[in-house]
Amino acid sequence: MTQEIITRQENGVFTIQMNRPEKKNAITQNMYTLMAEGFKRADQEDAVRVVVLCGTRGTFTSGNDIGDFMARASNPSAEVPSASADFFEAVISLRKPLIAAVQGFAIGIGTTMLLHCDMVFAGKSAVFSTPFVNLGLCPEFGSSYVLPRLVGRQRASELFLLGERISSEKACELGIVNRVIADDTLMDEVMEIARRLARKSPAGLMATKQLIKGYTAQNVREAIQTDGAMFAKLMTGPQAREAFEAFAAKREPDFSKF
Ligand code: COA
Repeated sequence: MTQEIITRQENGVFTIQMNRPEKKNAITQNMYTLMAEGFKRADQEDAVRVVVLCGTRGTFTSGNDIGDFMARASNPSAEVPSASADFFEAVISLRKPLIAAVQGFAIGIGTTMLLHCDMVFAGKSAVFSTPFVNLGLCPEFGSSYVLPRLVGRQRASELFLLGERISSEKACELGIVNRVIADDTLMDEVMEIARRLARKSPAGLMATKQLIKGYTAQNVREAIQTDGAMFAKLMTGPQAREAFEAFAAKREPDFSKF
């Protein structure tokens, strides 16, 4: 069986790679659990100084596995799975610098997880989108709080309400991405930046990250809860079901009946 999450550690750099290319790295509950474990391990081990998050060649991730969404939508009384919540918590409580390398699609949580990274580098091919409304859903992972503060309220509203795709250049202009790099050299350049960080004082790095994020940490935690509650409610509603069924049938959703 292929490993859907691959971790490796070298020269103080811990890499977490999403590896389900046949499904565009759509994230299952199991993948959330494995990534949460990876982040926790990276946080605890002194030898790890920096964490790199990436997908496979040409794809970051197409977001939450819609099959998982459908299963939850069709069984609303089932216990709410905690894997994504564990992942959210592991990401926001990571004390070490987190760098993302993005190629190809970064959809839904593929974009919102980047808002919690310390630096984001994108290949020219990267495409970002937050199509929650198109799926009868709403923003998750505290993004309703973080994105407007990063790009401005009107721009965040445009990204969330229209849910359209934006290019790597546009994401860089908005401040979601630090720098756009040719796809062929993206991973080499990101690893070089990670190794450069890994040679720096770990105490200095962690203190700086804590100071930058500390002022909003409590609000981010609350937003994750508030987003999550709204998201969970919509997820089991008829409009999301229509959108999930449309995705499975490879057709456009029809919201005109609601
Ligand atoms: N969940 C489950 N399966 C997914 C998926 C997802 N989020 N994204 C892609 N897949 C599957 C497709 O169903 C397809 O499976 P199949 O080969 O069994 O038919 C396979 O991955 C390849 O995807 P495909 O749509 O053929 O690739 P593409 O290059 O034409 O399009 C995307 C790529 C990412 C634009 C498109 O797959 C997509 O829109 N995915 C859904 C994104 C989304 O809405 N995510 C949730 C956000 S909350």
